Amino acid sequence: MERRQFLGNLSGPVLAACAVCMGACSKGGDSGTTPGTGGVTPPANANITVNLATSLLTVGSSVVQDGVIIVRLATGNTPSSFTAVQVACTHEGTSINFNSSSNQFVCPNHGSTFNTSGGVTLGPAAKALKQYTVSITGSTLTVTG
Ligand code: FES
Repeated sequence: MERRQFLGNLSGPVLAACAVCMGACSKGGDSGTTPGTGGVTPPANANITVNLATSLLTVGSSVVQDGVIIVRLATGNTPSSFTAVQVACTHEGTSINFNSSSNQFVCPNHGSTFNTSGGVTLGPAAKALKQYTVSITGSTLTVTG
């Protein structure tokens, strides 16, 4: 058999095998979810309290409780001084962090970023983080939603 004829006969099965491999390789991420679909379910019916006399004392500080990250954005104990969003990245569920110097949430897994309201500012995440309602009574901050 001539070399050219041999390669011609081989290309069909090799291409089919590559197509199967490429399909298998493109499915799933590290958690098995499809990237970018926002398949992470945020905590529902949150009811979290934080004592502001002992927590969130400095601008940029954060606490994570029951699947929600709560961040102090400004001085003063008014609701607008805080934000609370789901801690699980909407891409594949990795816990996000708050970067106080850039004033945004950052996912350490694939680098998605979110503004303080949870909106996506950089993918691969395609869906916003759920933002929760913050209220304050005395020195008690309450997160609901
Ligand atoms: S898990 Fe992929 S960007 Fe967050």
